[in-house]
Amino acid sequence: MHRAVVLGTGSCLPRRVLTNDDLEQMVDTSDEWISARTGIRTRRIAGTGEQNYQLASQAAEKALAAAKVSAEEIDLIAVATLTPHMMMPSCACFVQAEIGAKKAFAFDLNAACSGFLYGLDMADKYIVANPAMKVLLIGSETLSARINWEDRNTCILFGDGAGACVLTGAAERGIVDCNLYSDGSLWKLLYMDSPASRNPDLLIEERNGCFMQMTGRDVFKHAVRAMENAVLDLLDRQQVSINEVSLVIPHQANIRILNKLTERLGVDQEKVFINVDKYGNTSAASIPIALDEANRQKRLEQGDLVLFCSFGGGFTWGSLLMRW
Ligand code: ACO
Repeated sequence: MHRAVVLGTGSCLPRRVLTNDDLEQMVDTSDEWISARTGIRTRRIAGTGEQNYQLASQAAEKALAAAKVSAEEIDLIAVATLTPHMMMPSCACFVQAEIGAKKAFAFDLNAACSGFLYGLDMADKYIVANPAMKVLLIGSETLSARINWEDRNTCILFGDGAGACVLTGAAERGIVDCNLYSDGSLWKLLYMDSPASRNPDLLIEERNGCFMQMTGRDVFKHAVRAMENAVLDLLDRQQVSINEVSLVIPHQANIRILNKLTERLGVDQEKVFINVDKYGNTSAASIPIALDEANRQKRLEQGDLVLFCSFGGGFTWGSLLMRW
């Protein structure tokens, strides 16, 4: 059977850097508090020419160049995002037009921070059915537009950016297995409202406040436990020991979540890829940005086992094992 392999990766980060010192001028916080509680030191904020689909398209073009695949060869474009350029058309359709991927069909998927992992699993299913298929999978967010910059509980955590990869079928390598989960009953712990969509009678001046809302401490506890279980179940099903994994690429939310997870899984710290200090939490873009950086830093060699795991709003979570 042919499974989905990554042919090339790319990423694009906005130019503007927002530091913890900058945040000290905006809300009642400190570099010391943010660094100690989250591990985040800087994040990128989108500006002119850096709309979601523009970041996504630039990441896509880098991934296509690395894969040596032209935009015209792409059959499917999927963009994982919770901050699309518009509600309609999809961000993926904007990307299609921007890069000239004429024959592709294109759509967005929203599984919050787990969107890219859900997308990898979906791409694998398309590719198992049709191994010649070329899929462009992107995770892209402009979360800064949906953050309440007066709320110190959330505004310190998030950033903007995009990551992408091109996938096709291969016989000996690629995605090995995947575990995905959701629990909609816990939605109130982490959400972003969209009153204009759910209430047609809403007055125009009431259509604001659609910002990220979060009960941080509860999210923290669920995130660690859920990712740990997702990984352990997957490794157990595949009869793979954590020691056989060459690199873990987790969703980059908070260094304390990652440290706890690393400890509970008993994995060497050097094997866990971390860039949350530079970019904060970029939701669906976090794993593909990390994957691209790991790839460009030559941390991945053909045949390596790579483990991904994520947790986000919904709740959604999961883990995925890939032979690079
Ligand atoms: N600066 C200074 N003080 C702050 C700040 C801030 N930015 N934010 C909160 N505080 C204060 C609180 O008001 C509270 O003060 P009090 O004790 O006087 O009431 C105190 O710090 C402790 O607040 P807690 O919320 O208990 O702090 P905690 O140690 O839980 O850290 C954090 C908060 C960083 C949000 C943590 O809970 C967390 O990381 N949770 C996970 C959230 C997350 O990652 N969400 C992203 C989406 S899901 C995902 O991607 C995994």
